[in-house]
Amino acid sequence: MIPIPNGWSTMTSIDKKLHHNLRRVFRSGVGADSLALYEPAIVRNLEVYFSQLTAAKDSEGWSASGNMRKWNLYLGFDTMAEFGLGLKTNLLRSQARDYVFPALHVHEKKMGLWEQLPILDNIGVGTLISRFLPLVSNEAKSFTDWYQTFVSEAISTNSSESRGIFGPVIQSGLGKLEKPGHNFAQMIGEGAFSTFSFADAYGMMLSGFLHYLAHYPHVYDALAAELRAKFKPGESINWGPELESSVYLRAVIDKVMRLLPPACGVHWRECERHGTTIGEGTQPLPVGSDVGMSLFSLFRDGRVFRDPVRFWPERWIPGTLPETEFSLARSMFNPFLIGPRNCAGGHVAIMIASIAYTYVLVNYDFRLGPEKADSAAHLWSNALGETGTEEELRFESHYSILGWESGPFVQFKERGFLAKGLMVG
Ligand code: HEM
Repeated sequence: MIPIPNGWSTMTSIDKKLHHNLRRVFRSGVGADSLALYEPAIVRNLEVYFSQLTAAKDSEGWSASGNMRKWNLYLGFDTMAEFGLGLKTNLLRSQARDYVFPALHVHEKKMGLWEQLPILDNIGVGTLISRFLPLVSNEAKSFTDWYQTFVSEAISTNSSESRGIFGPVIQSGLGKLEKPGHNFAQMIGEGAFSTFSFADAYGMMLSGFLHYLAHYPHVYDALAAELRAKFKPGESINWGPELESSVYLRAVIDKVMRLLPPACGVHWRECERHGTTIGEGTQPLPVGSDVGMSLFSLFRDGRVFRDPVRFWPERWIPGTLPETEFSLARSMFNPFLIGPRNCAGGHVAIMIASIAYTYVLVNYDFRLGPEKADSAAHLWSNALGETGTEEELRFESHYSILGWESGPFVQFKERGFLAKGLMVG
């Protein structure tokens, strides 16, 4: 997961001092003031997304159905490029997406595989692929050129003043900050990880939201009623008390993250203390051993989460489950992990998801389109036979990073479309 030699990022660094410095710089970009400054990029990109998705409509106002796996990735990328770096990548409109996303997809699979089998990278397979592919594939060459332009624009745009939440990382990499932080290689590593991985996570959270709400109408209705009582179509939606206090909205976000945790792989930690045991009646781990488990498996464990694959946001509303069951589920549900190596941008993810889910439901109705997602048949669910599995989003792991090939296919209709049509008639 280290794209160039010495390109450690906050996420990948092992050395504690280095990690502390990188994390400090990273965190300086995601404080409340900075988030408020760059937040408008989230809605701006949602507007472009819907202008593209609803460009063609039928007589009732329903758009053609869009393949959300693709559209949500375009949205995720454009949003993170602008929110993170002040760049307009415009992949929601540009054909460059035809070579950008296939290349990122290969890169992501590679990263997932390397994470579990670092030996493949250590013996140089990764370098070989990166050097060889652009020689034989025009698409890979176009991607390399595109990526180089992206990096140089990210640097020049943020070199003296931040234009997005990752601005301090760039300034640190250029040696402009007083306290120690990233060197140039680490700046590249951090920038790549932050932009690409959250573009994907945002896309998944939106796909999961559309998929599950389209399959569970009572959740759709309850959340729509809550949010439509707070905002009217066209009104500006900002991160603030109205969204933060919406208990049902947060329950839906948590539910999507439980069933589709964007960071679903094994999060390795090294045992540092003698006598550490994991689970009752086990032998202490030798110091130096690596320990980890997959959040995906944990979040679908029926011993912790009743009806593990059912989309059931009410589970998170206090009072629905007996207190001990609720507390156990709550304590085990940590999609951002805990401790000094937990996610440094969890609050950013909640903010973006809250704004996006609200924007969609306040301004649009949506339903599943007629197409079906194509996917490898053997990858379906780890809980076959459970009630609710038939409505699951097909899951395909890229070894440790969540993803799938296509779908859900969704149609949108602007709220108030008929009223406008009637006025015209
Ligand atoms: C729903 C979205 C997200 C989820 C579920 C998520 C989850 C996680 C998890 C589980 C880790 C720990 C990984 C490990 O140690 O193996 C992590 C690390 C990290 N995440 Fe996130 N993340 C999300 C979004 C974001 C966003 C939006 C940002 C930045 C704005 C971000 C920045 C980071 C960073 C910098 C780390 C490394 C932290 C460290 O090791 O000190 N994440 N994330």
